[in-house]
Amino acid sequence: MAEAGSVAERVKQQADIVRVVGEYVRLKKTGKNYSGLCPFHQEKTPSFTVSPIKQIFYCFGCGKGGDVYNFVMDMEKCEFPEAVKLVAEKCGISIPRPKERSAEGRKESLERGVLVEMHREAQTFFVKQLEGTLEGKAARAYLEDRGLDQDAISRFGIGYAPSGGDALLRHLKAKYPEKLLVESGLSSRDQGGKLFDRFRRRITFPIANESGKIVAFGCRALGDDQPKYLNSPESPIYSKSNLLYHLDRAKEGIRRQDFAILVEGYMDAIAVARVGISNVVASCGTSLAEQQIKLLSRFTKRVVVNYDPDAAGQSATERSLSLLLEQDFEVRVLVLPPVGDKKADPDLYIREKGAEEYQKRLKEAPSYVDYLIARARQMDLSTGEAKSRAVNFLLPYVQKIPNRILRSEWATRIAQQLRLEEPVLRAALSKAAAERRGALKLQPELVARAGKPVERRLIRMLVEAEGFRRELAERLENARLYHGLETEKIFAALVVASLSGQPAQATEVAAILEERDRRLLFEILFEEASEPTWEEALSCIETLQQRQAEQELAEVQRSIEANPTGPGLRDLLARKQELMRRLAAAR
Ligand code: UTP
Ligand code: MN
Repeated sequence: MAEAGSVAERVKQQADIVRVVGEYVRLKKTGKNYSGLCPFHQEKTPSFTVSPIKQIFYCFGCGKGGDVYNFVMDMEKCEFPEAVKLVAEKCGISIPRPKERSAEGRKESLERGVLVEMHREAQTFFVKQLEGTLEGKAARAYLEDRGLDQDAISRFGIGYAPSGGDALLRHLKAKYPEKLLVESGLSSRDQGGKLFDRFRRRITFPIANESGKIVAFGCRALGDDQPKYLNSPESPIYSKSNLLYHLDRAKEGIRRQDFAILVEGYMDAIAVARVGISNVVASCGTSLAEQQIKLLSRFTKRVVVNYDPDAAGQSATERSLSLLLEQDFEVRVLVLPPVGDKKADPDLYIREKGAEEYQKRLKEAPSYVDYLIARARQMDLSTGEAKSRAVNFLLPYVQKIPNRILRSEWATRIAQQLRLEEPVLRAALSKAAAERRGALKLQPELVARAGKPVERRLIRMLVEAEGFRRELAERLENARLYHGLETEKIFAALVVASLSGQPAQATEVAAILEERDRRLLFEILFEEASEPTWEEALSCIETLQQRQAEQELAEVQRSIEANPTGPGLRDLLARKQELMRRLAAAR
């Protein structure tokens, strides 16, 4: 339905199913997912589930499921085009509208183009100011003082906004209407309605979106002016919580190294990237937003959080940790030691200690659990009450660990490290380890209904393993490995989809399946599961091959018994030997 490159596809990518469904159903966060009372059938306990990661919904009760469009079509009893329009509206996504309203759509996209152009001109202006004016000279001295040489300045497009109050405005106003100047955030209005420059006497850091277009500026005061950083406001081309600073240049490195370094500020990202560690992004501001994590998850699921070692950075680290874990990230935390008696952010640390020392710390950065234990150990642990505070601080994180065995291992370690002799606290920890908070309790008969674990696992991989689903599909197809399985039809549909090279669209595959298979597919997608690996895929394939051999052996045996003197006996016996050899080798 939502064809690649179509408006429907774009809207679906930008929309958030949780937000849309949340307008109709009261949703509660339960683990990674959300759940609520199903709007499509009568029920007293919630079996309706929404996955923000997969952007799909499914009701374990009545079996309705699909993507955001299926939901809206069912709720509003409308057709596909209407659903696309509704979703776009609800999520504030502008789409080119057909017929009478298309003029408005064209105007909006034209406007965005103009805003980008305006930022490009502002960027050239700021750079010139830094290079060629007296004021700029003072700004350059400041930058030099902070360790930024000419090379770094030009590499990161650093510029200067002069103090006059209308320098940039005079430069732009002949060309652009006032409304757009204000909308861009480059100009503000005073009480009398007169325009003036938003950024004055500040160092300018251009902020680019994922595709490298400058869409905003972050501007630092030269002295102690407040605020220290003044940033562009939200605009049609800039949404703070949807952007990570430096991602446009980091994404290749992030993909290659399969992890990202997350820092707080512009200067930190620049300092790290400058010394050749390109896979760094800044959240810019203390807390990380859910959309920023989603954005990052397109490139990696592994992060080293390297926030400032002050109180604000610490609590931001812990908030971000929660969010990252919820989205199944593998998280390590780098807390840089003080330099002399100064708390060191990445920028200061690299300047004082050098890139190699930073690299070394980065490599050794501990898993978030070790970080949290270290934090808990810094707390007062002298009394039972104090210890219980420390345990309470840790419990929610323990509960977020997706893997049950890991969860219980960490609980044991925490108990040891905090020297918990108190049975009550130990019990609280093991309880937390045993249950994943909020994880939806599935009715066992539904989960156990069909498909052996290997089949379920392979099905999941065909949907999710971007890296190797095609190769997996080829192997399954060439060896006819899924033929005759209970889940054969699901496999057949997914294999075709995977071989087509199109991105995985589980909901579209589901739409062509029979009711029983459709429900099974959704149930598999909502199971808790770890990241698939190729090794695991190979071992699942092996299991299927073995099962196939066992079945064939049974058939051969039956034929031999049914016809002990027939002409084909020799062949059958040879085949039997071959199969038995193969099975013996596999064991
Ligand atoms: P910091 O206060 O740690 O600043 O804020 P910094 O990056 O270390 O800056 P320097 O080294 O003092 O120049 C971290 C980030 O938080 C955002 C900015 O993105 C900043 O880089 N911030 C901070 C603001 O948006 N506004 C502020 O007033 C302060
Ligand atoms: Mn800082």
